[in-house]
Amino acid sequence: MISISISPNTERDDFFLAFKLLFQCFNWKRGKKEEELKSLLKEYFNISNIFLYNSGRSSLYCLLKALKLEKNDQVLLQAFTCSALVTPILWNNLNPKYVDIKDDFNIDPEDLKRKISPKTKVLIIQHTFGKPCRMEEIMEIVKENNLILIEDCAHALGAEYKGRKIGTFGDASFLSFSRDKVISSVYGGGIIVKDLKLAEKIEEQKYPSYFWIFQQLLHPLLVNFFVVPFYSFPGKYLLVFFQKIHLLSKAVTDKEKQGGKPNYFPRKMPNALASLACHQFKKIDKFYLHRKKIANFYAEKLSIDLPDEKQSYLRFPVVKFKAHEIIKKAWSQNILIGDWYTSPIAPDDANLRKMGYIKGDCPIAEEYAQKTINLPTHINISEKKAERVVSLLADS
Ligand SMILES: Cc1ncc(COP(=O)(O)O)c(C=O)c1O
Repeated sequence: MISISISPNTERDDFFLAFKLLFQCFNWKRGKKEEELKSLLKEYFNISNIFLYNSGRSSLYCLLKALKLEKNDQVLLQAFTCSALVTPILWNNLNPKYVDIKDDFNIDPEDLKRKISPKTKVLIIQHTFGKPCRMEEIMEIVKENNLILIEDCAHALGAEYKGRKIGTFGDASFLSFSRDKVISSVYGGGIIVKDLKLAEKIEEQKYPSYFWIFQQLLHPLLVNFFVVPFYSFPGKYLLVFFQKIHLLSKAVTDKEKQGGKPNYFPRKMPNALASLACHQFKKIDKFYLHRKKIANFYAEKLSIDLPDEKQSYLRFPVVKFKAHEIIKKAWSQNILIGDWYTSPIAPDDANLRKMGYIKGDCPIAEEYAQKTINLPTHINISEKKAERVVSLLADS
């Protein structure tokens, strides 16, 4: 089975670690792993203010809160994004305003200039699929307009722009370690803050409940034992069933698609998940080299140029007419290629009005939402599997 999103980064050692942790509930909330993960990130980014939370969503929520903005202040972000980036803005009673993209799926600096108004306080940039944004142009606009710059590094841990690490350009940046990101602890994230004064305003949160932690630890186990090996039957039905009875968590809940906030956000990163994330972080170079190899394979087979810039290669985007049909056809053959993003604010059933998006706001993002598919590059994708994905595209 080929899947871009169901526990893609889990290897045997991650699986055993999750299994071991299941029996150590005394270690689930507090423990040494939180500090260890912070140290790894401090060293990696060479920035000493790191805060860990149970998701990218919690991280962005706490970061925006610390900025102490006024109600309805405007936060600019690109369309062709996920509702998980928008909801923390709404939960802070701020207004998201959308900027269109270029053909690299990242924010268009020209449209950005047009969208800035006196109400604009913050710009969030998203390095989509792990491709760095046009940082020189963006930094200039930020400076000229006195904006606060936040980098969304959910896709881009490990990427670099002209030799400088993505995540070190913004006044602050946030990371995600959720299930389908560069490294994964099923749920998890963090903030990197350059400004000490801002760092002092970032609030501590409570730990999530024991049940919530249990649910996340079960994820690699249930998914790799019962779902993935028998995906066509009964695996995919079991996945829905496990989520229905809350043994497994969903990546985005129905409530969030309407702009609502689940009660497990914002929460601090619990020790058990920090333990999974530390373990994955130590494999970041191995993951990167593998993703790059698979991305090069796709690039060669599909005759697509890869820029020299160091990307994270989280996913390999391909532009195809009738993308939605191709995705459906692949899924029907149990080849779960990626659907980032089939709507200007994904997922498809997110309420665009509640997300503050009005149809026509960002025409290029809308066009790319119709014609983008993304191919898996993760550690469990061999060249043989990548070949199957390429053949599927050739037949479409
Ligand atoms: C671009 C982008 N930003 C932010 C997030 C939020 O991260 P998390 O799932 O850890 O809350 C996601 C993931 O869902 C994402 O794709």
